[in-house]
Amino acid sequence: MSSPLDVFRDDLLAGHVALVTGGGTGICRGIAAAYARLGAKVCIVSRKLDVLEQTAKEIGAIAVAADVRKPDDLVVAVKTVLDRFGKLTTLVNGAAGNFLAPAAALSPNGFKTVIDIDLLGTFNATKACAEALMASKDGLVLNISATLHYHGTPLQIHASAAKAGVDAVTKNLAVEWGRFGIRACGIAPGPIGDTEGMKRLAPGDATEKAKQFIPAGRFGTIDEIAAAAVYLRSPAAAYITGHVLVVDGGHCIATPSVVGT
Ligand code: COA
Repeated sequence: MSSPLDVFRDDLLAGHVALVTGGGTGICRGIAAAYARLGAKVCIVSRKLDVLEQTAKEIGAIAVAADVRKPDDLVVAVKTVLDRFGKLTTLVNGAAGNFLAPAAALSPNGFKTVIDIDLLGTFNATKACAEALMASKDGLVLNISATLHYHGTPLQIHASAAKAGVDAVTKNLAVEWGRFGIRACGIAPGPIGDTEGMKRLAPGDATEKAKQFIPAGRFGTIDEIAAAAVYLRSPAAAYITGHVLVVDGGHCIATPSVVGT
């Protein structure tokens, strides 16, 4: 079966070394797999070592168990990458946690937990990688956010706030670290099929109903997000920084219109 990744040259990412948080499953597993397929050395990081090791074997990566809420874990992960591969050129911040919760019923700790994983976790991993990315002189921080915060999204106050923060981190890093040869970009995936996120956010019948709100008429695929991540890491994107690329089939700009109805 053909994949959007087929358009890329096999050795496009040779010479790159990537650390991918959340790389054990879902979208970030897809990004890690695409990077490895195109010649990069890849280290995937998440909390669950058994899942990570299985994925690492399947995609040709190495695995380090780390919780992005624990800065010391990330320092160990970066050291492992440098010991093994000698450099680090790319950080993909993809580790995330989410669930549906009405704002009035969500506990402060529930809100904080998602902020800690998504936003503080992004900062922690970025900080742990800073020196190595600067040394590479061709660094990329690629932050995976969402489109939740472009409008108000019910039951998602915690994740929306976290992802808005992640987009702010992307812009700030782009401005502050450009002079160190580091770009910072983001990808904001829309509804992507076959992911834990969609199972959690649109369970059961909601999945089919949701498609009517997507101009493309379908969910995206993990490989379509991975293709965007490859593009942003490729030399074709060398002058792109501070930008968050929305990959959502037009979902976030589609609103029910009264015109012509
Ligand atoms: N609804 C409301 N609150 C919830 C919740 C839910 N479904 N799940 C967790 N919380 C709250 C807990 O009640 C707790 O708050 P409290 O102490 O006030 O009760 C707080 O969040 C922390 O929960 P805990 O289970 O201890 O956190 P954790 O670190 O083990 O789990 C989560 C992290 C919350 C993100 C968990 O949902 C998880 O591990 N998810 C799996 C991965 C995932 O979400 N992937 C992302 C797909 S987009």
